[in-house]
Amino acid sequence: MGDYLDSVRSFCSRGGSGGAGFCCTGPFSAASPGKRWVLATVSAFFFVSLCISIFIYWNDVYDIAGNYFFKASPPPPLPPPPPRTPPRPTIKIDFPFNCSKRDPAITCPKFNQSVTSRTDKSSAVTCPQYTRWIQKDLRPWKMTGITRDMVDRARDFAHFRVVIVKGKVYVERYQNAFETRDVFTIWGIVQLLRLYPGKVPDLDLMFCCEDLPAILKREHSNVKHLPPVFHYCGDDKSYDIVFPDWSFWGWLEVNIKPWRIMLEALKESNNKTKWKDREPYAYWRGNPYVSARRGELMRCNLSEKQEWNARLYKEDWGVERREGFQHSNLEDQCTHRYKIYIEGRSWSVSEKYILACNSMTLLVDPNYYDFFTRSLVSKTHYWPIRTSHMCTDIKSAVDWGNNHTDKAQAIAETASKFIQEDLKMEFVYDYMFHLLSEYGKLFKYQPTIPPGAVEICSETTLACPGDGLWRKFMVDSMVTSPKTTLPCTIPS
Ligand SMILES: *[C@@H]1O[C@H](CO)[C@@H](O)[C@H](O)[C@H]1NC(C)=O
Ligand SMILES: *[C@@H]1O[C@H](CO)[C@@H](O)[C@H](O)[C@H]1NC(C)=O
Ligand SMILES: *[C@@H]1O[C@H](CO)[C@@H](O)[C@H](O)[C@H]1NC(C)=O
Ligand SMILES: *[C@@H]1O[C@H](CO)[C@@H](O)[C@H](O)[C@H]1NC(C)=O
Ligand SMILES: *[C@@H]1O[C@H](CO)[C@@H](O)[C@H](O)[C@H]1NC(C)=O
Repeated sequence: MGDYLDSVRSFCSRGGSGGAGFCCTGPFSAASPGKRWVLATVSAFFFVSLCISIFIYWNDVYDIAGNYFFKASPPPPLPPPPPRTPPRPTIKIDFPFNCSKRDPAITCPKFNQSVTSRTDKSSAVTCPQYTRWIQKDLRPWKMTGITRDMVDRARDFAHFRVVIVKGKVYVERYQNAFETRDVFTIWGIVQLLRLYPGKVPDLDLMFCCEDLPAILKREHSNVKHLPPVFHYCGDDKSYDIVFPDWSFWGWLEVNIKPWRIMLEALKESNNKTKWKDREPYAYWRGNPYVSARRGELMRCNLSEKQEWNARLYKEDWGVERREGFQHSNLEDQCTHRYKIYIEGRSWSVSEKYILACNSMTLLVDPNYYDFFTRSLVSKTHYWPIRTSHMCTDIKSAVDWGNNHTDKAQAIAETASKFIQEDLKMEFVYDYMFHLLSEYGKLFKYQPTIPPGAVEICSETTLACPGDGLWRKFMVDSMVTSPKTTLPCTIPS
């Protein structure tokens, strides 16, 4: 690790102050607004002859924690590749994954044509309802198509650009993203191409890794110049094209494992405590400093004067990191009958873990959506809480649930089932596949590899140079074989 870090550091550049723009959302956030970010960026992304550097921001908490992830010694032993079996493989064609050539001049393995020329069995599987929003997100470009001018305009909002040409992924980096958001997002796209080799059309896309939507409707009234920007969330006031966030492949800075593994862990944990045996209160744990409404939520905590039926806890990531994340396991937080979801600066990554808990989710009015949350129905998947009456709404929701346990339990189970079934990794990839395919159909020009772009593949540029949790999460979330059936069909 040491040698590797040193070589990486020589490619480091120092970022400026990230400011509020890099303030992380979610209860897992280590960020505290008002604190100055101390940035020491470590590039860990590799190079052929050119170097792509993807930077990791450290804030002060990280410094206190002693660069837990990248200096931890000894690093955990690397799991032997190839790792997990993919879902339901009928013909197994493993991709070779070989990190033993630690030669920086290594290039991506040759694309194996025979992998794509197989005939596919058709799939009778219907996609989850949330795939229907793909059309809505792309509607602004339906009449105009996507022109080179539009994509060039999107560059100002992007952290990186992904170009797919003939089944290969090329990335050009523009700005530093917070933590490893960009690395794990790119990793996800590369995995999609391993799952459906040769099936994702040529395209050119700009990706923004910020918290807040980038393309505001009021600033972009001329549809002829509307920049298409991919981003993790959207709202009514923006044109961002919504894409799954990095946490589906892992969030290493806060030790959140890849989603496929988390789903199993949550399922097991739900089995341990029955709903009726759980604490009959509403639970929340997270970083209250990322938004004003979270600060307000803290006023609903139990005190000597008031009982709002809420049990709220601050997450101190500095302490957690020092103590090896013993108390922040998400699967160990399914102990209450009710769980509160509240946005941070924008959408919060926490939503899927909360909904999966088999607790009734008390959802504080969200302003933002991510790719799956537009499918959630009030009083079917969650209980709504008004921002203006948070404490009283929480209290009455909990009272109601404790007096109507069958109904509250049904809401809890509907949400968990939705997460377990509709949000399994297979469908997340199918959502990505359909989104990129529909996006690709809109192109008015043939995407070409930009001069500054570098070819990216799993072994050379992403997983092999990494170490510790970085590499572990990638290996654990790696697609090892192409799927032998077609993607699901979008419901009409
Ligand atoms: C990985 O590559 C090295 C160097 O080319 C080779 O010696 C080794 O046998 C390969 N390992 C596997 C498992 O293919
Ligand atoms: C390509 O895939 C086929 C089918 O699995 C395999 O037999 C062949 O060895 C592969 N070729 C290369 C160059 O990896
Ligand atoms: C949950 O528990 C039931 C019986 O109590 C068992 O049949 C099932 O396999 C368990 N599931 C998991 C994921 O542990
Ligand atoms: C909320 O109250 C509980 C119990 O008194 C306490 O342990 C916890 O630290 C409080 N949470 C916050 C955020 O103040
Ligand atoms: C439910 O139970 C609580 C106490 O357990 C009680 O105060 C309340 O009036 C009951 N009824 C309703 C409709 O909430």
